[in-house]
Amino acid sequence: MTEEPTPETLESDKPIKQRKNALYLGVSDELAENMQSGWADTELHDLRPIPQAEHTARRRAALSARFPGERLVIPAGNLKTRSNDTEYSFRASSEYAHLTGDQTQDGVLVLEPTGATGHTATLYLLPRSNRANGEFWLDGQGELWVGRRNSLSEGEQLYGLPCADVREVAGALAEASGPVRIVRGHDAGLEAALTDKVTAERDEELKSFLSELRLVKDEFEIAELQKAVDSTVRGFEDVVRVLDKAEATSERYIEGTFFLRARVEGNDIGYGSICAAGPHATTLHWVRNDGPVRPGELLLLDAGVETHTLYTADVTRTMPINGTFSPLQRKIYDAVYAAQEAGIAAVKPGGKYRDFHDAAQRVLVTHLVEWGLVEGPVDRVLELGLQRRWTLHGTGHMLGIDVHDCAVARRETYSDGTLEPGMCLTVEPGLYFQADDLTVPEEYRGIGVRIEDDILVTEDGNRNMSAALPRTPDEIEQWMARLKG
Ligand code: GLY
Ligand code: MN
Ligand code: MN
Repeated sequence: MTEEPTPETLESDKPIKQRKNALYLGVSDELAENMQSGWADTELHDLRPIPQAEHTARRRAALSARFPGERLVIPAGNLKTRSNDTEYSFRASSEYAHLTGDQTQDGVLVLEPTGATGHTATLYLLPRSNRANGEFWLDGQGELWVGRRNSLSEGEQLYGLPCADVREVAGALAEASGPVRIVRGHDAGLEAALTDKVTAERDEELKSFLSELRLVKDEFEIAELQKAVDSTVRGFEDVVRVLDKAEATSERYIEGTFFLRARVEGNDIGYGSICAAGPHATTLHWVRNDGPVRPGELLLLDAGVETHTLYTADVTRTMPINGTFSPLQRKIYDAVYAAQEAGIAAVKPGGKYRDFHDAAQRVLVTHLVEWGLVEGPVDRVLELGLQRRWTLHGTGHMLGIDVHDCAVARRETYSDGTLEPGMCLTVEPGLYFQADDLTVPEEYRGIGVRIEDDILVTEDGNRNMSAALPRTPDEIEQWMARLKG
C-alpha cells in the first residue's frame, strides 16, 4: 500500500478542489495503474450550437461595445458549502448564463480587449478529468464522482466560443495589464486575485450594464419565459388536485407538489415557493410552509418554475381551500382583482414603468376608503402612503433569468424608465390584513390576497403570459371544482 494521495501527489500541475470523501481508502500502485486505462474515447464531434448561441453572441457584442479597451471578467460562481463536504446545488450566475448559455460551476467568461475597440471572448471551463494522474476518480470534482463534463472542444462547439482550462484563468489575468472589471459576488477566489486591478465603482458599472442588457427580452427569452409559465400553470393545477392531502398534512404538501413539477419539467423552482394558508398569506415571504391547511381559509400560492435555461415564472393565485369564497373573502379578492386589471391595462409600450403601480394602488385605496378602513380622500391617502399598512409591497418587477430581474439597472432605465416591447414584468397587487391588526374589523384579520401575473409588453399593448390560470373568483371556483373532481 502506498500512502493516500493528496492533491500534491496527484502529479497535477494545478490540482483542483479536493473533496474530503474522495480519499478514505488507500490506493495501491496496482490500482492506480489499473484505473489509468481501459476507458473508451467518448469525445463528441459535430455538436450543434445551443439554441441561444446567436443571442449570446449579440449580447457579448453589446458588452464589448460598452467597455472598449477593458478586460471583462464574468464568473459563473462556485459551489457553496451546505455543511461539511455537502454542497448546495449549483446555479450559475445570471450574468454568466445570459452571456454564454453555459451553466458550469467555476466557469469564467473573459473578454480580452483586442485594441481600442473589440474583444476576444474566451470561456474558461473545467475540462474533462485527467485519467493519467488519477484526478478523474480521486478528486472530489472528478468525473467519476460528479458525472461527465464537456471537453473544451465540445464546449467550443456548443457555445461558439474558444474554451480554455479554468485553472489557468487567474494566472492569465494576473499577468495582464490594463483596466479590468469583474462581476462581483460570484467567485471570491478570482476577486481576490484581481484586488489590485479593480475598483468597486467600476465593477458596479459593469454589473449595472449587464442588468440593463436584460431589460428587453429577445424571442428566445420570451419563449423560455412562456415555457416557465406553462409549467407553472401545470404546477398550480397539481396543487389544487392534492389540497385534500395538504389538509391532512400541512403546507409542505403543497410545496412538495409544486417542486415535483418544477424538477420534472424544469431546472428548479425560480425562488422559494410561498405556500401560505390562512393567516400566513399576510406574511409576504412565507417560505417555512409548515402550517396547517384548513377549509374555510384562503391559500395564497406564489410559485414559479425555472426552465433548464434558467428563466423563471412568478405567479400568485389566492384560492379558497374548500373551493368556495366566503362573501368577505370574495369582497377583498374583488378589490385586488380590480386593482390588477387597472395595473395590467397600464402596461403598454411608451408608458412609464410606474404607471401600473400607480393605477393599481389607486384602485386599492379607493376600496380601503370605501370600506372605512382609512379616511379619505383617496388622493390624501395616496400622498401619505397610508394604504401601505395593508398593501405592503410594490405592484411588480421585471422578470426573466432572475425572479427580480435587472435588479441593479439604473433608476432611469428601470423604475423611472419607459416600457418597451419585449420587457416582461409582474403585476401583483395585494391586500394583507395581519392577524393582530386592531385597526381593521375582526373578520378581516388574517386574510391576505395577492394576484400575480407575468405580463409581456408587446408592440400594441401587452400579453398576459399566465392567462391560462383563472383570475376571477367565479373562474377560480369552477377551475377548482373541475380539478378537485
Ligand atoms: N415571489 C416573489 C415576488 O412575487 O416578487
Ligand atoms: Mn411572486
Ligand atoms: Mn413577483
